[in-house]
Amino acid sequence: MNSYWIESTKNLEIQRKLDNNYNVDVCIIGAGMVGLSTGYYLAKKGLKMAILDKDGIGKKASGHTTAKITYQHGLKYNYLINTFGLEFAYKYYKSNKNAIEDIKKIIDEEKIDCDFEYQNNYIYCTEPKEVIKIKNEINALNQIVKYENKQNDKNNPQFITNCGLPFKILGGIETKKQAEFHPRKYMLGLAKSIEENNGLIFTNSLVNDVKKFENGYISYCGNYNIKSKYVVIASHYPFINFPGFYFSKMYQVTSYALGIDIGNKLFDGMYISSNEPTLSFRSAKYKDKRLLILGGGNHKTGFSPESENTYGYKFLEVKAKELFPNSQILYKWNTRDCISLDKVPYIGEFSEFMPNVFVATGFNKWGMTSSNVAANIISDSILGEENDYKDIYNSKRMEPIKNKTEVKNMIEQVTKSFITSRIKIPKENIDKIKKGNGGIIKIEGKAVGIYKDEEENIYAVNPTCTHLGCLLTWNNIDKTWDCPCHGSRFDYKGKNLYDPAFKDLQNIEVRC
Ligand SMILES: Cc1cc2nc3c(=O)[nH]c(=O)nc-3n(C[C@H](O)[C@H](O)[C@H](O)COP(=O)(O)OP(=O)(O)OC[C@H]3O[C@@H](n4cnc5c(N)ncnc54)[C@H](O)[C@@H]3O)c2cc1C
Ligand code: FES
Repeated sequence: MNSYWIESTKNLEIQRKLDNNYNVDVCIIGAGMVGLSTGYYLAKKGLKMAILDKDGIGKKASGHTTAKITYQHGLKYNYLINTFGLEFAYKYYKSNKNAIEDIKKIIDEEKIDCDFEYQNNYIYCTEPKEVIKIKNEINALNQIVKYENKQNDKNNPQFITNCGLPFKILGGIETKKQAEFHPRKYMLGLAKSIEENNGLIFTNSLVNDVKKFENGYISYCGNYNIKSKYVVIASHYPFINFPGFYFSKMYQVTSYALGIDIGNKLFDGMYISSNEPTLSFRSAKYKDKRLLILGGGNHKTGFSPESENTYGYKFLEVKAKELFPNSQILYKWNTRDCISLDKVPYIGEFSEFMPNVFVATGFNKWGMTSSNVAANIISDSILGEENDYKDIYNSKRMEPIKNKTEVKNMIEQVTKSFITSRIKIPKENIDKIKKGNGGIIKIEGKAVGIYKDEEENIYAVNPTCTHLGCLLTWNNIDKTWDCPCHGSRFDYKGKNLYDPAFKDLQNIEVRC
């Protein structure tokens, strides 16, 4: 079972690997919401560009999202006013509010058939202690609409005690005229428009380095490269570690989703709980009915909470059975998103040492509007145009916490190989790993990552993350090796699945 968005669009994919060296104005690394939205605006302005993705179009975070297009990013505005002041909070609100209309405008202009629908968005609570937080958030929103001089707008957020969910809530915020869509249909529509405007898109094309060259940069990809004046790192988690140091300003959180057939019951509105563990609801067009998309079960990537019932698919499956007893789960998926330390995305110049290289990351699981905000800021910067919101997202803000262990790990990693490629493991050690499970065993002081499948085949890897050398943990839900430091993930055979690492793990031949 995969993401509904990916399963329902697979035949439309553009597939072409980088097959030559090119000279362009802008090289965009990553074909998710950020890369394609930025590429769209720049291609429309006639800039020559190449977009490279190591996988396919919209196949990573943006193809595994729940795709609610809203400026109500959880209980955000009370926090923003208290931390950064009213003007900052207003700019955050306004830039994301504009993004909803910008996305709609693109869909209309390009005639992208992507099931876009305006919907009300709700944040609800079921615990008494949460009601005050909801009320504080409404107060914060009222201050913002007053600042905007829109007190009488009928779409302003309201406090509610009833909504369309099949259980009682204690309070909530209703925000009108938010939206939802099919994110992959949208991204494929952007890709089509980019190509029609002479943009080049290459898939299965991993960029492993970007280096300065004359007045611009060279992006290296296998045997070929792209020379460009500007580079946009739209790889979700920046894959270049230095000089940006983004690894010390972010962590990743994994979230899960189920696509559920709940019969003919209509399900309008988009909902998210204010309390943890987060539960999120929306529906999507599915054949001649609606598919319920139930999300949540979050945890920090690389860490599994103690009780299986409080996270992951199990948590969602129990909830689905309780709320919709006769339903059928048709799709299951998960992905991760980058969480910035101050809950505001990093958008803008990558580092003062790399002028004309841009980045957008740290969307805190709200990348649908944030990616459009990023595309506007980055394309305005490249085109030399003003942007009213760029100062609040300044990606160079915050002195990164230079973590000595990570830097030391990295140096060691490039200077020596950690363990040999063949190792003898006593049978009793292998027997400790159950069928269908994985774990780390220590042999002569060296860590070996073992996965034993249901037929008792053994897959062994060096469980040292190829990003900055942290020890990986076994994730038995997806049968993957996950990194607790910055969230890279690898399959049980060691193949890299998710950034910021891009190299595979070392395989180890085991002899018993
Ligand atoms: C379960 C879940 C639900 C969510 N729901 C919502 C929601 O309802 N609303 C909302 O606003 N946000 C939501 N989000 C957040 C949102 O999905 C993300 O913030 C957004 O999709 C990130 O887009 P992106 O373009 O930065 O990343 P991606 O979509 O991951 O794109 C990055 C691309 O870069 C490519 N890449 C990486 N490294 C390289 C390299 N070295 N060379 C070449 N290519 C490379 C990858 O293959 C990938 O295609 C959710 C997130 C999660 C985890
Ligand atoms: S993801 Fe950074 S060390 Fe693993």
